[in-house]
Amino acid sequence: MLHLLLPTLLSTLLLLTTPTHATNSTILVKNNCPFPLYITSVSSTVGPTIPLGGGGGTWTEPQHKDPLTGIAIKVAVAQDALYASKPVLTFGYTVDYGVPDVYYDLTTTYGFAEELRGKKIAVKGDEGKGVPGITWEGAPPGEQQTKRFVGTTDLTLEVCS
Ligand SMILES: *[C@@H]1O[C@H](CO)[C@@H](O)[C@H](O)[C@H]1NC(C)=O
Repeated sequence: MLHLLLPTLLSTLLLLTTPTHATNSTILVKNNCPFPLYITSVSSTVGPTIPLGGGGGTWTEPQHKDPLTGIAIKVAVAQDALYASKPVLTFGYTVDYGVPDVYYDLTTTYGFAEELRGKKIAVKGDEGKGVPGITWEGAPPGEQQTKRFVGTTDLTLEVCS
């Protein structure tokens, strides 16, 4: 009997597991500034630093979960910012596909890059889902703004939006 059930069982399992991985939502960074930005995805491991051209360049990664920590997308004007104590903008997120929900925030370390002062910076989710946004009008606000969305959504950080 088992040998008859097994193929059905296997294809059912495949149907159940494959879409979860194929449909991970996306994290995007869009650079509308007239200069490049440098992006580094940091979790319990530090990814490579990727240059992102200005004038509408985009960088993406599938939303994923690190069992030990959240994910921090480090965005800098200076290529060596992470290693030279220069200003870094951090777009942090923690996704849980089990709930499902996602927490996200925007913070700075080593100050705020002069080049970004006066520029609008925004985090947005999918249209029409009521995803709470984060908007900085030219400078970081005084207080920390951690947002949570229950459900799944792409999240876009737009710099110089
Ligand atoms: C999708 O998310 C899950 C859970 O965090 C992760 O294990 C998997 O690697 C992700 N898929 C991709 C393509 O990053």
